[in-house]
Amino acid sequence: MSTKAEKKDLDWQNIGFTYRVTDKRYVSVYKDGKWDEGQLTSDPNVVLNECAGILQYCQEIFEGLKAYETEDGSIVTFRPDLNAERMGNSAVGLVMPPFPKERFLEAVDQVVRANAAWVPPYGSGASLYLRPYMFASGPVIGVKPSDEYQFRIFCTPVGPYFKGGAKPLTLCVSDYDRAAPHGTGHFKAGLNYAMSLQAYVKAHADGFDENMFLDPASRNFVEETGGANFLFVTKDNEVVTPKSDSILPSITRRSLVYVAEHYLGLKVTERPVRLAEIADFAECGLCGTAAVISPVGKVVDHGKEICFPSGMEKMGPVIQKLYDTLTGIQQGRVEAPAGWIRKISL
Ligand code: PLP
Ligand code: COI
Repeated sequence: MSTKAEKKDLDWQNIGFTYRVTDKRYVSVYKDGKWDEGQLTSDPNVVLNECAGILQYCQEIFEGLKAYETEDGSIVTFRPDLNAERMGNSAVGLVMPPFPKERFLEAVDQVVRANAAWVPPYGSGASLYLRPYMFASGPVIGVKPSDEYQFRIFCTPVGPYFKGGAKPLTLCVSDYDRAAPHGTGHFKAGLNYAMSLQAYVKAHADGFDENMFLDPASRNFVEETGGANFLFVTKDNEVVTPKSDSILPSITRRSLVYVAEHYLGLKVTERPVRLAEIADFAECGLCGTAAVISPVGKVVDHGKEICFPSGMEKMGPVIQKLYDTLTGIQQGRVEAPAGWIRKISL
């Protein structure tokens, strides 16, 4: 067998953002106060006690990152150290034992290596999505943290998160909140996503692509969507991104802020953004690992349409430059800042 994996026979350009069972996943078990050595397994199923903390009280956190095939045929991950750190913070937030950062990085490498045949080819527009997650596996019936946990990583090849790829999205301002003030919004915990499902179903039933959630305390400020942070561009080409304690600190957003400042020479401001001012912006985008940067063409606030000048046909010029530079860095066409790209030895 050659060292380079024979790719799976998939229609890579059209795989969508769906789950496919791949060959191997990683599992490590926390018991008696320590993590075991961990291993890869072929079994995609998880068998749990009926009273496991995840099933009863939703004690679970997760991460999302991608592996890419680059222009020169290497396989790389993008800033996995930041996922390891954020997962550590989420673990502390949900009273779980953090999985050590170095072990997280090695486990990601192992999963990518063992599933190299599932890494979409360079130029297909698809990537290998990695889902690290940790949950309470020990039984708890009184409300308290569990004594036992599993840390796992599976992967699945994915295309664009939103159907239609780079076509501008239409959002609605949600009447629901996804997170509480001083709550868990800044942790990547499954419970936040459960909170957003009713809003998601309503938005889709009403013909929208996503929700714009507002700050839960005053409902005057823009927070994020169910799975991505916002970036706005002013008419003077300044990038503005909402600051809030109850949104997820997006790694893509933090990377784009750096790209905007250091690659594109743009001014960037992170500050609270009022819903009332968004009509003044020239461009709007959603950013995240799954979303990459997806342009927003229109936001509907209870019947009132806010249309960005970038329109409903294509990305605005600044969002497009940010997109090209970021994806160029991830796929090896643009030189990356030190430490952003982790090459996987095959
Ligand atoms: N906000 C939410 C609620 C998310 O689920 C995600 C996805 O991870 C993001 C923002 C974007 O974060 P990142 O860029 O780290 O993927
Ligand atoms: C990600 O972008 O990795 C996420 O976790 C968002 C989710 C909605 C798919």
